[in-house]
Amino acid sequence: MSPAVSNNASRRAAELRERLDEASHRYHVLDAPTIPDAEYDALMRELEALEAAHPELVTSDSPTQRVGAAPSSAFAEVRHEVPMLSLANAFSDEEIGEFVRRIRTRLDLNADASLKFSVEPKFDGLAISLRYEDGKFVRGATRGDGETGEDVTANLRTIKQIPLKLHGKGWPTVIEVRGEVYMPRAGFEKYNETARESNGKIKPLINPRNAAAGSLRQLDPRITAKRPLAFYAYAVGVVEGGELPTTHSAMLKKLHAWGFPVSTLVDTADGAQGCLTYFHRVGEQRDALPFDIDGVVYKIDDLATQRELGFVGRTPRWAIAHKYPAQEQTTTIEAIEINIGRTGAATPTARLKPVFVGGVTVTNATLHNADQVARLDVRIGDTVIVRRAGDVIPEVARVVVERRPAHTHRWKMPAHCPICGSAIVREEGEVVARCTGGLACAAQVQQALFHFAARRAMDIDGLGERFIEGLTDFGYVKSPADLYKLKLHDLLEMKRRADERDGTTPETVKAGKVATKWAENLIEAIAQSRRTTLARFLYSLGINHVGESTAKALATWFGDIALIRHLPWPILKLVPDIGGEVARAIDAFFEQDGNQRVIDDLLEHGIVITDAHAPIAKVRAALTTANVLADMELPGITEKRSEQLAQAFDSLEAILHAPPAKLSASGVPLDVAAALASALEQAQTRELFKRSAHAMHLLLERAESAKGAAGPLDGKTVVLTGSLNSLTRDEAKDKLEALGAKVAGSVSKKTSFVVAGAEAGSKLDKATELGVEVWDEARLVKFLHAHAG
Ligand code: IVH
Repeated sequence: MSPAVSNNASRRAAELRERLDEASHRYHVLDAPTIPDAEYDALMRELEALEAAHPELVTSDSPTQRVGAAPSSAFAEVRHEVPMLSLANAFSDEEIGEFVRRIRTRLDLNADASLKFSVEPKFDGLAISLRYEDGKFVRGATRGDGETGEDVTANLRTIKQIPLKLHGKGWPTVIEVRGEVYMPRAGFEKYNETARESNGKIKPLINPRNAAAGSLRQLDPRITAKRPLAFYAYAVGVVEGGELPTTHSAMLKKLHAWGFPVSTLVDTADGAQGCLTYFHRVGEQRDALPFDIDGVVYKIDDLATQRELGFVGRTPRWAIAHKYPAQEQTTTIEAIEINIGRTGAATPTARLKPVFVGGVTVTNATLHNADQVARLDVRIGDTVIVRRAGDVIPEVARVVVERRPAHTHRWKMPAHCPICGSAIVREEGEVVARCTGGLACAAQVQQALFHFAARRAMDIDGLGERFIEGLTDFGYVKSPADLYKLKLHDLLEMKRRADERDGTTPETVKAGKVATKWAENLIEAIAQSRRTTLARFLYSLGINHVGESTAKALATWFGDIALIRHLPWPILKLVPDIGGEVARAIDAFFEQDGNQRVIDDLLEHGIVITDAHAPIAKVRAALTTANVLADMELPGITEKRSEQLAQAFDSLEAILHAPPAKLSASGVPLDVAAALASALEQAQTRELFKRSAHAMHLLLERAESAKGAAGPLDGKTVVLTGSLNSLTRDEAKDKLEALGAKVAGSVSKKTSFVVAGAEAGSKLDKATELGVEVWDEARLVKFLHAHAG
């Protein structure tokens, strides 16, 4: 190799190192990247290639040398020439007052003389000391017992925020920079997420502090390199051959200029009051910080004064740590219960051995939902880490798997509501599982009543939130049906008790007068609500996913609560706009005995449905074996396969009882037949077939007998024209047909009457021309009303 080539290479290598170093410093320390990642990678590759071709060019501070040292079998001991001391802790404002008073006394300062402190976050990681000789990082060590630590240089080199070479100028020949290695929260969460997905291959980290400590103590630096570690400088140890500023705060600024990360939260403050203000200011930001802190540190800023004050034992007199309440604590799970919310949401909750965390004693922690329990794999008996940050509900953050006792079981969401015994159902794609006993569940009764009484539901005027709370809290009402049993004196008594409890008894009442008008009005409003339409009634039940339009569609199609309350979901799906999810929610609601009892109660003691009718003609048309079969969502049973099966078997019962050989002979592909045969072995599918077959018979029978029975519009042909206000054209058609009419599209001599809405056009003209009777909307509505039920 000619010296010229080598010179060139050496210059280029130095230039690359310079640029990479600067880019890395801007990225990791200043948080202000200047070059794109791809460019950085390209420069790095160029340097690596150059160093590979000219191994004599490799320097210890080259950015290529961060990772790569071979694993060692043990760490060498490092004696700290300047010991690494610890701080005294304080937990209250009073202790800080004491601390500052002691200093003033020693310094002979009176209470109002200014006393400047450097105030800093107390990082929750691992203290280390970094030694630089002639500006180069030569050795890094852990704190150990303060006198002797471990040489973890190779591991520290992998941390990009630690400069391998000092920046700027004016640094001493030898300097030890001290600070904290920590793991940022985001990196910690990401690491644990990966660990959880690894199926036990990667062990999750307990908390960011342990994570930092564990990562630094890896014998193989390549493992450390994979851990997202970071660093903040906050002190110096040995200093030789150079001068440092005379205050701590100026020294930190110098460290920053030499390439070390110094937290932007570092500040100065005057006296105890200034320190306490800082404590609260940082405390407010604590939860939002990207890393954990467990307190703040106050240090006398003037270094000469620090020296004057000196140490007691192993702690400085000139500094103190002011701690925040711990946000995480270890405890054990005594039970996992579920809580049913106002809307029926079932939230798993951990009952804990009481533990003091985040400043309060915590006995319960939320587990959020079944997925979260599965993710954490929390089990009864487990030792867990509970977290309570700020005002948020305490939660179980992690399980300490190492401490899991023998014979534990994975937790499963219970099948039934602990309050009302109804089924708990989790719909596909939903995170939340819900109790389906909406009407019968004590946990949901207030919400249920609120919905029931709403204007668009049963429209009970005056039954507001406060009365609902009073009625349920004092046990006058346990379900919507109880509303219809209320007497005047119940309401008055409820109000008196609620006022007494809340301290809101009016003066007039105290003086012996009792207002009764409101109660009479409410009783009257409840009575008024008794007569209602089927659609309103269905809507008022508060079935999950059943809004007004779905309630209307159900009412129009099937016409009778006695039918609807027993229909299986594949039949409900026949109604356009009712999909599988909604149909299953309706079915699940009516499946609950509790809900059925409340409906019985409502119909016996309260509600009169004024517009019941037989299933409309569309029901009859849609109720084919093929349609119902296709609606069952069985694997492989498409519409086409349903048609084939319906042709071969002609009823659901026949399919249910068919031997597998006959299914195979039906013309559907063999794998589909086999899948159907195995589905039919399941009790659940068989039950669904039976229910669907039964419902089909019942509906067809009703529809037939309605056809036979003389409807008020039997034999009449009606034409609808123009737009209607109070109902859609389709609804009007369905209702007219339900009363026996044939609804036609054009007017002729045979037309019995034309219903003309607003802006009726040629059909109306034709009717007038032919002398056909014309009804307006009001007449139609009146007629439908008169013939309802
Ligand atoms: S100064 C002589 N400043 O707290 C005092 N320590 O108990 C030397 N720590 O081991 C430490 N943040 O791990 C200092 N801003 C900060 C700190 C801090 C965290 C840790 C450090 C040390 C312990 C002292």
